Amino acid sequence: MSNVINVPLGTRSYAIHIGAGLLPQLGLLTAQALRGRACLLVTDSHVSQIYGEFAAASLRAAGFSVSRAVVPAGEASKCGEQLFALYNAAKQAGLDRTGIVVALGGGVVGDLAGFLAATWLRGVAFVQVPTTLLAMVDSSVGGKTGIDLPSGKNLVGAFHQPSLVVADLATLETLPPREIRAGMAEVVKYGAIRDTQLFQALEKLATTFSKAWKIPSEIIARCCAIKADVVANDEREETGLRAILNFGHTLGHAIEKATGYGRILHGEAVAIGMVAAARLSTKLTGLPDADATRLEALLTKLELPVRAPGLAWPELRAAMKLDKKSQGGIPRFVLLKKLGEAVTGCVVPEDVLQEVAHGLGE
Ligand SMILES: NC(=O)c1ccc[n+]([C@@H]2O[C@H](COP(=O)([O-])OP(=O)(O)OC[C@H]3O[C@@H](n4cnc5c(N)ncnc54)[C@H](O)[C@@H]3O)[C@@H](O)[C@H]2O)c1
Ligand SMILES: [Zn+2]
Repeated sequence: MSNVINVPLGTRSYAIHIGAGLLPQLGLLTAQALRGRACLLVTDSHVSQIYGEFAAASLRAAGFSVSRAVVPAGEASKCGEQLFALYNAAKQAGLDRTGIVVALGGGVVGDLAGFLAATWLRGVAFVQVPTTLLAMVDSSVGGKTGIDLPSGKNLVGAFHQPSLVVADLATLETLPPREIRAGMAEVVKYGAIRDTQLFQALEKLATTFSKAWKIPSEIIARCCAIKADVVANDEREETGLRAILNFGHTLGHAIEKATGYGRILHGEAVAIGMVAAARLSTKLTGLPDADATRLEALLTKLELPVRAPGLAWPELRAAMKLDKKSQGGIPRFVLLKKLGEAVTGCVVPEDVLQEVAHGLGE
């Protein structure tokens, strides 16, 4: 059984297919969505070993000529050097304007291959095959692509929507539990900002979650539907709606930066950031204390961190100042009025921010 979510963007609309065991259908689904024949399958060293051949075989069986490009696993591959190596691979693969870039992997591969697709010959078609939970519910949908620079993450990028997303839930079986948990933080985020029913479903799931690490496809589909709706109404972050997806991210990004990228996973930092944002919300936007407590309890049940012991306030504050969401050095927060309803662009008085941040370090 698979779920299909449509992302309605006029002529750039596309479908997200979600279900267990979809990888063998990748070729057919791609052939239905696109006319080109030459494919560059971009993946990373971990994912290539496990799923590279399955994906390539499925594409070949549907009549595509497939070249494979493998980058080392890890954030460090989202860089100019790998991008230029991929341009060479695209040339060698004979990728003309009808060519297709297929990204098989997590958010790193998706962002890098997406930026390749956005810029190669001024833009070719792009298919996302996310294999991490984070990529399934977040990075593969919405069209943000890009690479990091030594001076900062995601500094170079482009909006380039995929033509198709194929999320095979069976691939999550090989994903390390820590990565699954980190992805769950983004899943909780969708419930907190937009959907109390989803939040309740997660509270139910959390009681058994750590035994099986299995996520029902309906839950992933619901997250994709929320992201699709937000993106359809604010594709390029112009009206401010898309900013609600940054709930927990102002402090989350600062925590990632202050602790040195990589020690703490993005989703883990977002979990701590959401707890802080919920506390700020109880002080500033009327979120009931009980709701903040529910959010923290859910994240704790999912075995996500909710505190950052030993984190120094001056470093955290400095990291926040440099955040892309800051305006004139003043950080902006997404806060909650209640569970399921978020407000964007909130400015938080310095003393309140410091008090809540201190509470996190305890
Ligand atoms: N474009 C967007 O809208 C957007 C949104 C959120 C995050 N991102 C980006 O996504 C990136 C993080 O993505 P991520 O968390 O998926 O990390 P990732 O791509 O580095 O994957 C995490 C690890 O899991 C491995 N892996 C992937 N799938 C696997 C599988 N099925 N089985 C076993 N191992 C597997 C990878 O090789 C890697 O080692 C960041 O660069 C972030 O900036 C982008
Ligand atoms: Zn995130």
